[in-house]
Amino acid sequence: SQDELHERIEAAKATLGDRVVVLGHFYQRDEVVRHADFVGDSFQLANAAKAKPEAEAIVFCGVHFMAETADMLSTPEQDVILPNLAAGCSMADMADLDSVMECWEQLEEVYGTEPDADGRVPVIPVTYMNSSAALKGFCGERGGIVCTSSNAETVLEWAFERGQRVLFFPDQHLGRNTAKAMGVPLEQMPMWNPRKPLGGSTEDELQDARVILWHGFCSVHKRFTVDQIETARAEHPGVQVIVHPECPMPVVDAADGYGSTDFIVKAIQAAPAGSSFAIGTEINLVQRLAAEHPEHEIFCLDPVVCPCSTMYRIHPGYLAWVLEELVEGRTVNPITVPDEVAGHARVALERMLAAKP
Ligand code: 13P
Ligand code: SF4
Repeated sequence: SQDELHERIEAAKATLGDRVVVLGHFYQRDEVVRHADFVGDSFQLANAAKAKPEAEAIVFCGVHFMAETADMLSTPEQDVILPNLAAGCSMADMADLDSVMECWEQLEEVYGTEPDADGRVPVIPVTYMNSSAALKGFCGERGGIVCTSSNAETVLEWAFERGQRVLFFPDQHLGRNTAKAMGVPLEQMPMWNPRKPLGGSTEDELQDARVILWHGFCSVHKRFTVDQIETARAEHPGVQVIVHPECPMPVVDAADGYGSTDFIVKAIQAAPAGSSFAIGTEINLVQRLAAEHPEHEIFCLDPVVCPCSTMYRIHPGYLAWVLEELVEGRTVNPITVPDEVAGHARVALERMLAAKP
């Protein structure tokens, strides 16, 4: 039962003490979040992975790309454990190294490789944190960088200082929403279609491009619509609509605010009692916020429950199992990024951690 699992997890954590640190993403279910030593968005969790070098193991309650990042940012002695290896991210799977390489080669044919008079290279690759370590390595090796939903604008500024244009993957929506907020016109953001030569654009269109978008998206966030926002506003006068930037552009445009999961949490914490919020992000987070803030009205924009099914694969039973194995001296489900990938990927991650607004 849930109570038994809760007790098993508590007991194992008590035995392990400072030898283990449990990190949890905001989208994790409550039964997992309550055991996390730190809960945060993907940027905060990347920093948290560096914060306890004395712990022997980091148990990462989140998805695969987050655990890979934690492995690359933690010390070589630390093990990173993903309680269920099937916790992936369908968006991260939408960009693979081969297709991105193919795209890159075609872009090199169009733009060449020489910097302009200001020393800016033709293209800077930028990968969203929601991507494999291999793609982070691809970026690190080519002067590129990683971003999360909380620093995408800072990172794009960093990239535009060094490059004439950006190749942004895998999330088209985060790329489009961020570039649009920075004043890049939509016609200068062609979307790359890996099945067509030059991604389906003409050479002229590519010459004008500022941001070349990949075709990836999040299946949870693409469910939110402008209609839902209109309904929420009609039914809840005064409601504030806040969405995640993985939502399609019309949804972000129609909302009152948008930002990372931590942005959403902080906006609610800062509001005066009696506020009303319609939230466009994953349901476990929205429901927890509603329970933690009875002084507000908080509901999910989508009336049909929309969990991130892969985040949900971190069942507390798996958490209990990996912790009990650690008590027995066994490391199960370790996530280890091979050195040849991690070297370059770490460069791209460290550039992100150093990029200042
Ligand atoms: P955050 O960076 O806002 O935590 O988002 C991660 C994610 O996967 C959202 O779908
Ligand atoms: Fe991936 Fe979307 Fe789940 Fe985030 S919510 S982990 S982007 S599938």
